[in-house]
Amino acid sequence: MKFLAPSILSADFTKLADDLNKTIEGGADWIHCDVMDGIFVPNISFGPMIVAAVNRITGLTKDVHLMIKNPDALIPEFAKAGADYITVHQEEVVHLHRTLSLIKSCGAKAGIAINPATPFSTLTDIAEYADLILVMTVNPGFGGQSFISSCLKKIEQAADFREKNNLNYLIEVDGGITSMNIKEVSDAGCDVFVAGSSVFSSGNIIESTKTLKNLI
Ligand code: DX5
Ligand code: ZN
Repeated sequence: MKFLAPSILSADFTKLADDLNKTIEGGADWIHCDVMDGIFVPNISFGPMIVAAVNRITGLTKDVHLMIKNPDALIPEFAKAGADYITVHQEEVVHLHRTLSLIKSCGAKAGIAINPATPFSTLTDIAEYADLILVMTVNPGFGGQSFISSCLKKIEQAADFREKNNLNYLIEVDGGITSMNIKEVSDAGCDVFVAGSSVFSSGNIIESTKTLKNLI
């Protein structure tokens, strides 16, 4: 099963419900929420209040990507706001096993993200505890950046490792996904496709969602 997860980072926040309803009409499966604190990444986006607003707009899976320092302090708030998946960064969290347990104890599914410079091999001892592994294909912080194709090999590594070890995490890819590369990402083994600007900045949200969905 493959899921398209439009990222609201590129939506028009003056009409968030309209933009979300359009992408849902186009076939969006999950809604990706990019949380940035201006410290872990050089940009600030939003917190649990917006996730709660998304939760009031749609019952679709809320996929919360925490690009923040010390995520443990806010994980319970995001879970209360309606997050179904909460993903933290390997580069930030020292005690990943503890943090994944915290996410699960709050009733959400637990994900781990790796930046373009972080090898998949950093996850081999923790992958069995993850519900989702997020391979970043841009440096996190902004929408609309170009896909870093050298990251494709990590999707294949995550898929091989899952098969060899009989694990069942989902593989998510985030950053620079467009109609030009989404097929290649899918063929590499991706299950969940995050798309921000290629959905919301396209001029026609319903059509661009449909186009991406048809390619995965
Ligand atoms: C980047 C975010 C992404 C971003 C993707 O830090 O994690 O989810 O919204 O945007 P696009 O699809 O425009 O690269
Ligand atoms: Zn993201």
